[in-house]
Amino acid sequence: MGTRGLGIDYSELHRIDSPANRELRKDLWLEGDDLGQHSFVTPAYFDRFAAQLGIGPDTRVLDLGSGTGGPAVHIASRTGCRMTGLEVNAVGVEMAGRITAGAGLEDRVDFVQADGMHMPFEDASFDVVISMNVMNVFEDKVGLFREVRRVLRPGGTWAFLSGTFDFGPQDAEVRDKLARGYAIPQYTDTLAGYKAKLAEAGFVVDEVTEFISDFRETMVRWLAAWTKHRDAIAAEQGAEQTDHHLVYFTEYLGMIDAGKASNHFVVSHRPE
Ligand SMILES: C[S@@+](CC[C@H](N)C(=O)[O-])C[C@H]1O[C@@H](n2cnc3c(N)ncnc32)[C@H](O)[C@@H]1O
Repeated sequence: MGTRGLGIDYSELHRIDSPANRELRKDLWLEGDDLGQHSFVTPAYFDRFAAQLGIGPDTRVLDLGSGTGGPAVHIASRTGCRMTGLEVNAVGVEMAGRITAGAGLEDRVDFVQADGMHMPFEDASFDVVISMNVMNVFEDKVGLFREVRRVLRPGGTWAFLSGTFDFGPQDAEVRDKLARGYAIPQYTDTLAGYKAKLAEAGFVVDEVTEFISDFRETMVRWLAAWTKHRDAIAAEQGAEQTDHHLVYFTEYLGMIDAGKASNHFVVSHRPE
């Protein structure tokens, strides 16, 4: 995914052990919080979400857009669940395999390289599907939700965390800068848009939690860390895209402070 050669797409971000990323991540995360994640979610949040969703040893969980796999491995190690991660990016899947082996969890955790729109799973394969900060990459969200519904057993839970945006026509420039910062399209939506699309795909929304302060704090820390390590990242991953990424954090913070961007954890279920 992304356009290789443009610099920072997820391939670069998923190389969490590259020299520049190693140094960067020491400043991105507080001691003990780095799972290899590319979201604001810390281990404490994953533990809270896992408890909220009732994930335990008998639960078959799918992490949609699993990135480097660190979050999925963390949840599996804390809950004993059976975990599958689905990720489109080959670098992420390779990293996920290494993290799983390092944790000795190969018997309970596996990763599949595939597109979330067309998942290589039988109907009703999972009890819970989760997804952390991935929704912006999907243009056809109703189509994605229908595919999630297919792989989820009746009564199963679909929970995702996503940035939510209230862009107006006057925000077109900001919107472009955000998309450019990740070198891939960003199909953002409002919370109301997500709720309507979930209903259209046959889900019932159970609970919505908004996260602002920790999310903003992470954004501030990320902007500071990227600014501090700018030259090393630019040398490793390309100057142009590194600078676009810095603009991305600045613009995103502006949207949060203007009350136009937030992060919501949306829990829904597939009716029996
Ligand atoms: C912001 S990252 C979040 C990763 C992970 N959930 C985490 O918390 O660290 C978004 C992820 O979605 C993946 N992705 C993008 N398009 C996808 C698709 N069509 N199907 C599955 N994963 C996709 C990206 O490669 C990236 O790993």
